[in-house]
Amino acid sequence: MEGVTGPALVNAGQYIMYTEFKDIVLGGKGSMPGFTHVSEETLEALYRYLGGTHGALISSSV
Ligand code: HEM
Repeated sequence: MEGVTGPALVNAGQYIMYTEFKDIVLGGKGSMPGFTHVSEETLEALYRYLGGTHGALISSSV
């Protein structure tokens, strides 16, 4: 299932590396706006919430 305006993010942490996730959230991607005010702590919490394991493993979807 996709999001209303973007792709589904459930388990995004399992196919996107933390560094890439951070770049997307801070800088945006395609029609997604960047959120420059998000702290590192919040980014890590979001990434973990989406199934990520903080930078380890996982191949990029891009
Ligand atoms: C804190 C909130 C958000 C987070 C953590 C987030 C995270 C992400 C991530 C990780 C991707 C890449 C997904 C992938 O490549 O499979 C993505 C893509 C996308 N997001 Fe968001 N997003 C957020 C908010 C939003 C909002 C508010 C919008 C719309 C206004 C949006 C629109 C999009 C779109 C359109 C894409 C696809 C971009 C492309 O591939 O060209 N996102 N988002």
